[in-house]
Amino acid sequence: MSGKLIIENLEKVYKGEVETIAVRDFNLSLNSGESATLAGPSGSGKSTILLCIAGLLEPTFGKIISNGKLVNAFTEEELVDYRRQTVGIVFQSYNLIEYFTVFENIAFPLWIAQKSKKEIKERVELLLDELDISRYAQTYPRFLSGGEQQRVAIGIALANNPQIILADEPTGNLDRETADIVINLLFKEAQEHKKILLLATHDEKIIEKSKQVISLEKRII
Ligand SMILES: Nc1ncnc2c1ncn2[C@@H]1O[C@H](COP(=O)(O)OP(=O)(O)OP(=O)(O)O)[C@@H](O)[C@H]1O
Ligand SMILES: [Mg+2]
Repeated sequence: MSGKLIIENLEKVYKGEVETIAVRDFNLSLNSGESATLAGPSGSGKSTILLCIAGLLEPTFGKIISNGKLVNAFTEEELVDYRRQTVGIVFQSYNLIEYFTVFENIAFPLWIAQKSKKEIKERVELLLDELDISRYAQTYPRFLSGGEQQRVAIGIALANNPQIILADEPTGNLDRETADIVINLLFKEAQEHKKILLLATHDEKIIEKSKQVISLEKRII
């Protein structure tokens, strides 16, 4: 799968009682199979950048171009498709559906995308295997450890085979060893399946492992 993500002069200003310039003149270009890590102190705009790329937040200025298409110019309908099919997001909190089994959690985006029962079964079983959680297929999330729950969350993000994976502090709630397992899995999935991976983290060990690190500065205003 080939793809390209270009971010040009991205700026995001939160307007409230005080104006916060969360992101100023951010630029990045990633091809499929490439990854980058956003590093920087709390408040430096990491999550804001990821949310803009995910189509969940509207940039104040600048362009987000996915496969030659300007995401900012998408209609609401196109945005829904883009969020469902082109991007997969992993957050620090796992956001699993507690009354669904592990299998059903990963199947959920595929049901929404109206895939056939056979396609869903094949895709979910492949992901469960790659993420090494097949034994928990019929288990409910509350019985899993944090690292296992995060692997399910990665499965959900990957379910629709998105070109872009966005991960916001994906190991923020995990201990060192579990964090390493989860991050290695994310890198492996991205590389093997030629995804674009953009991570945000404070974790020095993850920053060390990253091929391309983008350091953001703390904003003054
Ligand atoms: N919804 C919002 N409304 C107003 N200001 C916001 C909003 N979300 C974020 N901000 C501000 O924008 C700036 C960047 O926030 P952001 O959450 O992107 O930083 P971050 O690098 O992800 O921080 P952290 O490492 O703590 O997650 C901060 O000053 C924050 O207070
Ligand atoms: Mg953040």
